[in-house]
Amino acid sequence: MDWGLHNRLARIFQRDHRTVMLAVDHGYFMGPTTRLEDPRATIAPLLPYADAIMLTRGVLRNCVDPDVPIPVVLRVSGGTTILRKDELPNETIMTTVEDAVRLNACAVALSIFVGSDYEHQTLANLARLVDMAIPYGMPVLAVTAVGKELEKRDARYLALACRVAAEFGAHFVKTYFCENFERVAGSCPVPLVIAGGPKLDSDMAVFELVYRALQEGAAGVDMGRNIWQSDYPVPMIRAIRAIVHEQYTPQQALELLRELRTTPTVQV
Ligand code: R5P
Repeated sequence: MDWGLHNRLARIFQRDHRTVMLAVDHGYFMGPTTRLEDPRATIAPLLPYADAIMLTRGVLRNCVDPDVPIPVVLRVSGGTTILRKDELPNETIMTTVEDAVRLNACAVALSIFVGSDYEHQTLANLARLVDMAIPYGMPVLAVTAVGKELEKRDARYLALACRVAAEFGAHFVKTYFCENFERVAGSCPVPLVIAGGPKLDSDMAVFELVYRALQEGAAGVDMGRNIWQSDYPVPMIRAIRAIVHEQYTPQQALELLRELRTTPTVQV
């Protein structure tokens, strides 16, 4: 593998080949999402506990200090908003790889909408982005997006979408956890990270999601709302981190969360 590409991936995936990515790119189609209204305030306390951050160039340039050595996964696709919900998959590449290089990104991220009316367009976007990124040694993250159709998230669909993403050259894929997730992971030849989706009912549900995904073959998380929509975002990301990197069980993560809730946050 090209040295630069390998080095960028190694900054995202730690020595245990796992990663805790913090997803804060939601504004690109949702606008000022709840608890992400002021991205700088949401992001800053979480950065010490994330292995990488996923966001757009606008939030990166305006809301993250350049002297913070956090690996950046730059969202480069978009083009519609939740105001046009039936058109959400109508995405194109909105940011060049040259600008990603200028921003010292470690990867570029783009959504594919498999099975939608825009399937062909978004897969063509992925193929083009891979061609644009390879000369720079820039890894590509494909996101198997479902828009509002959350019920699509089953193993049959996700295995197909993840495999297609890998076939088109994505270096890693972001998807959802589902029942029989091992079928999704087992048929995708590149690492998978999982999104959290809308905020779950309980902290334990989040920890079980993360734990089971790892047990069944995920290489980590790229999680947003279930971290920063929590009333205790820093304890939450630290507990998730303990599952990903320290083999905590969901119960141990819950105990850690409870302990950290009562401990004043210390910035490292
Ligand atoms: C959605 O397309 C965005 O890329 C988010 O980054 C992704 O959904 C992960 O965030 P969450 O854990 O909030 O679902």
